Amino acid sequence: MAATFALLLLLILSSSVRAAPDAVVSRIAFGSCANQSEPQPIWNAVAGFDPQVFVWLGDNVYGDNKRPFRVFGRERTVGPWKNVPRFYPSTEEELRRRYQLARAQPGYARLRERAQVLGTWDDHDYGLNDAGKELSGKVIAQRLMLDFLDEPEDSKRRKQAGVYASYMFGPEGKRVKVILLDTRYHRDPLLSDGTILGDPQWQWLERELHGPQSEITIIGSSIQVVSNLSATTGPLFYVESWARFPRERERLFRLIDSSKRPGVLFISGDVHFGEITRFDCGAEYPSYDVTSSGLTQSVENSVPEVFQPLMRLLAILTPTTMRVLSPNCQYKSCTIGQPNFGAIEIDWNAVPPRIKLELRDVEGHSVHSVEFPISELQPSEAHAIKRQTHTFQRHCTLETELPWLTRYRLALMLFVIIAVFAVVVVMLAIACLSNFTKSSKKSKKE
Ligand SMILES: *[C@@H]1O[C@H](CO)[C@@H](O)[C@H](O)[C@H]1NC(C)=O
Ligand SMILES: *[C@@H]1O[C@H](CO)[C@@H](O)[C@H](O)[C@H]1NC(C)=O
Repeated sequence: MAATFALLLLLILSSSVRAAPDAVVSRIAFGSCANQSEPQPIWNAVAGFDPQVFVWLGDNVYGDNKRPFRVFGRERTVGPWKNVPRFYPSTEEELRRRYQLARAQPGYARLRERAQVLGTWDDHDYGLNDAGKELSGKVIAQRLMLDFLDEPEDSKRRKQAGVYASYMFGPEGKRVKVILLDTRYHRDPLLSDGTILGDPQWQWLERELHGPQSEITIIGSSIQVVSNLSATTGPLFYVESWARFPRERERLFRLIDSSKRPGVLFISGDVHFGEITRFDCGAEYPSYDVTSSGLTQSVENSVPEVFQPLMRLLAILTPTTMRVLSPNCQYKSCTIGQPNFGAIEIDWNAVPPRIKLELRDVEGHSVHSVEFPISELQPSEAHAIKRQTHTFQRHCTLETELPWLTRYRLALMLFVIIAVFAVVVVMLAIACLSNFTKSSKKSKKE
């Protein structure tokens, strides 16, 4: 009896540290792309925000392996002449070891004690760069990922194909629903314009969106939903996104409309920089997508320090029609190319309640934020913005509809630089050659 009582007391005490099931949730943090083998100082900044819930959005560990960049030699990993893939998967043992490293990160261990941690995955923790449904190790990878997240042994998430899941927080009138998508397990090959979610997950998502109401619904997708970066950086490089499966993306917006659900917004990761985007012409109200990437991996940290200003310049020059711009951004581009995390704060006491979407750096400083009443995310056919052809509408005109010169300016710049460089080299060569022949003629005469 005493033992039962002690156990009960312990249960009550331990659950009081975390939010009780219907406690009001007003602070949610999220992030992606964390290298388990590197120091992760960002957790101090996350702790400073004191989130009640933390959401992993993928590349929670780097589970696969990269071969060196090799143009020549026996193993060539780049160019049309490449003969081995750049990435290859790990063994089960190795993947498990990497999750153990991630769990042992001291800052993360402390966060787990204070906040409820949820998560989905992206390609590198699923097992292989850019992989989809074809990956053979996905069943094992799912088990290891759910172990990492402390998913109960009897959870139905362990029995289904894929790691998608949903959570409801808060009492009536102050409900926050979190829906986590699996963009890997059922995904067709890139360029197929096939499916990202697969039929069972679509049916599940339909039930989730049509189901019990919530004031706010946060949909976590490892890949970006709103931005189509590839349309402006191709043919230089491509990233994954919902926009590369245009029919699937359209289906998502139609589903939000048909559900009549208010307050839906997206959070995403993957791209190694942070930004806030907004699409006004998808659903009947603006679709925000807050991208935070990564917790350790970032475009600026991937280059030597002298090139970091160049990365910031490229961020400014990359055409974008969806990015939310504001004079208050810490960087002119309103992106962050340094490690960062996302923070969502809800002021339930305001009338109507307000939400703040924010990106914070490794010091915990805000680098970009937007704030608005959640009543702005109310479905209404009357307020839906229609796309007009031949006029530029910010947050509506697609990247692919940008004028040719704007859309391809980065690629053009690069080609012009290469061309100028080539011309200079050729001219120098000609000059050298003519000097050489002149001087050799001279020496013959003498
Ligand atoms: C992760 O960090 C380790 C140690 O610094 C490094 O060797 C490895 O290449 C990194 N992985 C990625 C994907 O950056
Ligand atoms: C995104 O860009 C790709 C590549 O340019 C293009 O094929 C695709 O249709 C675009 N998607 C949308 C939704 O505009």
